Amino acid sequence: MKNETSAAIQTENEQLKHRLDELERQKFELDKKIFELKVLYDIARETTTTQDLKTMLKVFLSMTMGTFGIVKGLITIYHDDKLCWELIASSGIDFTLDGKPIDIAAFQSFSQVKEAQLISDSCLEDAGCADTTFCQWLQSVPLKIWTPILADNQVIGGICLGEKISGEEYYQENLNLLSIIATNCALNIRNARLFQENIEKERIERENRELKRLDKKKNEFVNMVAHELRTPLTSISGFSELMMKKAETKPRESLVKFSKIIFQESDRLRRIINDLLDLSRIKSGKVEMEKMPNDLKTVIETACDNVQLTAEKKKIVLYRDLPASIPSFLFDKDKMTQVMLNLLSNSIKYTREGGTITVTARTTDSVVRCEVKDTGVGIPAADLKKVFEEFHRVNNELSKIERGTGLGLSITKSIIEAHDGRIWVESQEEIGSSFFFELPYKEMNQ
Ligand SMILES: Nc1ncnc2c1ncn2[C@@H]1O[C@H](COP(=O)(O)OP(=O)(O)OP(=O)(O)O)[C@@H](O)[C@H]1O
Ligand SMILES: [Mg+2]
Repeated sequence: MKNETSAAIQTENEQLKHRLDELERQKFELDKKIFELKVLYDIARETTTTQDLKTMLKVFLSMTMGTFGIVKGLITIYHDDKLCWELIASSGIDFTLDGKPIDIAAFQSFSQVKEAQLISDSCLEDAGCADTTFCQWLQSVPLKIWTPILADNQVIGGICLGEKISGEEYYQENLNLLSIIATNCALNIRNARLFQENIEKERIERENRELKRLDKKKNEFVNMVAHELRTPLTSISGFSELMMKKAETKPRESLVKFSKIIFQESDRLRRIINDLLDLSRIKSGKVEMEKMPNDLKTVIETACDNVQLTAEKKKIVLYRDLPASIPSFLFDKDKMTQVMLNLLSNSIKYTREGGTITVTARTTDSVVRCEVKDTGVGIPAADLKKVFEEFHRVNNELSKIERGTGLGLSITKSIIEAHDGRIWVESQEEIGSSFFFELPYKEMNQ
């Protein structure tokens, strides 16, 4: 009886021991799975912070190397269209390929490898690649493992890792985990590429839209130029035809009047063409600004003197509010005179009799700011930006009387911008307008 009992206890003990072993084994497997999951989770968490392929693969590599305790490693991408490998991320490697493809025949054979495996030196030697830096590096690494990155069972890259710091060899479970990591890497590469393609697509679409806009603007410009040139040309051809046909019958005064019109219209044509040429030359940077040390105050005074008589004829009073002096700085005197004359002549043209114009200049540490202010008809809010565009003329009572082609402000803006300055306008209808420009005068002295 006693013997029977001890036999039963022994069997039970053995069963328990067996169960304990089984539990130990299961726990070991579970720990392994938890470790793998943690590695994958950590990698996923770190790599989702970027969509840039290179940065993402660098993070991927360092996380993978950290997991296995490795100091040398690299990730390459396979370009199957060019049949070449590109080194994308590396660590613990003392050479660069500067974006050049990996130039060793042995590496080409990796495009067929579909499972993680050890790379043997003989495989490299067989391929006769001992003279390349990359190959030399591979041969200097005592233990190296290659894990292909697969997408749809096609090799799109590979992770190459050196020996572990611990000196341990790679176990099968290491290779399994590396394969899972590589699968994750493939997904990330695909996402990063899709993201990149989307960005590229958006960029192309944006550029396309901009090109279309410019093309439309160019067409509008050509139409406007044609229209502006046709108006004086129609007058010229009409009146010269009239003169030809009626030269015998028309009184001399009429013929003189016709010639005068022809002369004026030709002059207008010449002005438009000159303005257009000026504008396109300044805009394309073909006209070099002759920047010399000049005195802006003198330029302003001279321009005011020049328009004084025209202003007086319209009973417009021109005030000057200028500092005692403006430090001399580099600018093109003729072009800046043109700026002042354009702004002043506009103020005179678009201000009714009895109005006033005030020219102000102020300097700060870095800029000189000028203002030409008038008590004229003003500019509607909708036209404020457009007045700097070619041929834009505001439709109002004075622009119908006053001659103009709508090029003056475009030229003015281009000149100011060619001096690294800026120009803008503030205006209220029936109250008046203020045209401002600012030039960085200190910068020009350097
Ligand atoms: N000081 C101002 N007050 C009111 N409107 C203005 C003023 N300056 C410009 N404008 C408006 O802006 C338009 C464009 O001015 P811009 O100087 O470019 O052309 P323009 O004077 O018509 O012709 P031009 O090419 O002969 O100078 C003018 O037609 C006018 O409608
Ligand atoms: Mg003008």
